Amino acid sequence: MDIAPFETEHFFARHEFTTDWQLCNSDCETVSIAELLEMAGDSLEGLGRERLGYTQTAGEPALRQAIADIYQQVSPDSVLVLGSPVEGIYLAARALLKPGDEVVVTVPAYDALVNLCEHVAGPEGVHRWRFRASGSRWALDLDELRGLLTPKTRLLVVNFPHNPTGFYPSREWQDQLALLAAEHELAVFCDEMYSGLVHSGTPPVPSLADVSDRAVILSGLSKTHGLPGLRCGWLIVNDPVLWGRLHNWKHYTSICSPVPSVYLSLAALRARDTLCARNISRIEHNLTLADRFFEQWQGLFDWRRPLAGSTALVGFDVPSVSALSERLARDQNILIQSAAMLGGSDREMRLGFGRDNFQEALGRFDRWLRRNEGRV
Ligand SMILES: Cc1ncc(COP(=O)(O)O)c(C=O)c1O
Repeated sequence: MDIAPFETEHFFARHEFTTDWQLCNSDCETVSIAELLEMAGDSLEGLGRERLGYTQTAGEPALRQAIADIYQQVSPDSVLVLGSPVEGIYLAARALLKPGDEVVVTVPAYDALVNLCEHVAGPEGVHRWRFRASGSRWALDLDELRGLLTPKTRLLVVNFPHNPTGFYPSREWQDQLALLAAEHELAVFCDEMYSGLVHSGTPPVPSLADVSDRAVILSGLSKTHGLPGLRCGWLIVNDPVLWGRLHNWKHYTSICSPVPSVYLSLAALRARDTLCARNISRIEHNLTLADRFFEQWQGLFDWRRPLAGSTALVGFDVPSVSALSERLARDQNILIQSAAMLGGSDREMRLGFGRDNFQEALGRFDRWLRRNEGRV
């Protein structure tokens, strides 16, 4: 069966390495290998001594242990280290679904979360649970979810902190979701790629891995830690039978992680607190700049401040953000992303707050708007 174009990745393939002023990245500012090793109390010599053989297919034991330690009640046996975070979405769709099953997926969403479910279960089996604007926030209605469930629903796919809206559940809401999944005997695939990026004033909640034994968790080092070049991701799977099936699928996709990635991922987990704190403060600083920017452009943008994560979903009163973004990339060297490719509206854009040059990029966008007097 064919698969839909992965529009977000095609968009970044076109523009990520050719535009200077990017306002839509979901990852946080990265660091060099030497900086990372220094933060972790290590040095380049240690990396240089590593031998380049295969690594263990479930993940090196020390890495599985360091990952399990992030959670409250996860054993290293429940960890499956991946060849890349996005691989985990593919493996989960393969292991959890079969043709004819029904799935509920939150939208807008990172494309793979929807497209891979459609690929395996069939497009008619995938039901979209939409984020709705509710005052100054984005919300998901649990009653709406109940209305989407049928006896054939096998899986619920969610993502918290959410890319792109910045939605983050309260503890009570998270418990209700776990209860609902248990009542309907659903597996829950919870993408926690942005875990730990909780903004000041937002009460943190545990990983769904620590709340529901029905949950399969995806996480990794790309976003919160700002290390997408390590391609380090993992699944947390408490059911040993399902864990075994996912491990089997992984033998067909990446087999094992590269040695340098394992070494540096262990260093990143030792430096986790420093990396996370730096990225949260960078995001919070950029959010205050965004508050000021949107204050000045009321009427043109519809701004809902995210509660967590590195992104926001912003209404933009133009006929097509897709058309405008191609024009801005070509003529102004500025990159904005339409939410249309995430299953949202083409009159919305995703903004990303994790990068150091956000202020400069926003300033250039602001000056371009002023030159056009807001007529875009
Ligand atoms: C919600 C979500 N899940 C998974 C991924 C995949 O991460 P990676 O690109 O590091 O494989 C992304 C990347 O943007 C994402 O936003």
